Amino acid sequence: MNGKPGNLEVVLEKKARFVDPAKCTGCGTCLDVCPIRYQVQLPDDKARARAAYAKATDELVVTGIIARHRDERGNLLPILLDINRHFNWLPRPALEQVSDELKMPLAEILRVASFYNAFSLVPRGKYIINVCLGTGCFVKGSPRLLEALERALHIKHGQTTEDMLFTLEVVRCIGCCALAPAMRVGEDTFGRLTPAMIPRILKSYAESYGRDEAEEEAAG
Ligand code: SF4
Ligand code: FES
Repeated sequence: MNGKPGNLEVVLEKKARFVDPAKCTGCGTCLDVCPIRYQVQLPDDKARARAAYAKATDELVVTGIIARHRDERGNLLPILLDINRHFNWLPRPALEQVSDELKMPLAEILRVASFYNAFSLVPRGKYIINVCLGTGCFVKGSPRLLEALERALHIKHGQTTEDMLFTLEVVRCIGCCALAPAMRVGEDTFGRLTPAMIPRILKSYAESYGRDEAEEEAAG
């Protein structure tokens, strides 16, 4: 690459291949029928050093998840689901570990991970808050709940608090319309809510997280 910003000259080198890039839509079907599927070595796979986990114990967790599903047919999805359930998202080091241990190209794992809404490739908070904006809850005032949550957490929906404690999301019906307006925090469902109840609920989760952390630290 030569030149300076605004006037750069770039030489691109492309390796010969049998796919016409003008026609390829990136659907991935060829990966499913590739006879040397498990020998595919993509450039980033060859060059990369495994990204580091945030905590040393994270690698053990992923090792356990992979071991649990290793002998199952079609084990990629259950492995990704368990990893996503544990971390609330799919950290890059975990995906790389799955790629190495299943001998599967990282690109294929990312294709699956980015296809399903159940997976997140960006960090999410310890507690996922789903505010229902379905019709039943909407008419009973759930937009005001959402405003109260956004105010209390200092984020907009779709975002995560800086301390990584809460991610705020909106959903359309969580199946308990009789309790409208409703929201879910992790696995817990709250119904017949008013904005005034929000700070107390958030506080209880923050305190419970603090207790868990203290216990984990004490256990070493
Ligand atoms: S099968 Fe899909 S991804 Fe593979 S070359 Fe054809 S269009 Fe591209
Ligand atoms: S509309 Fe909110 S739970 Fe059904």
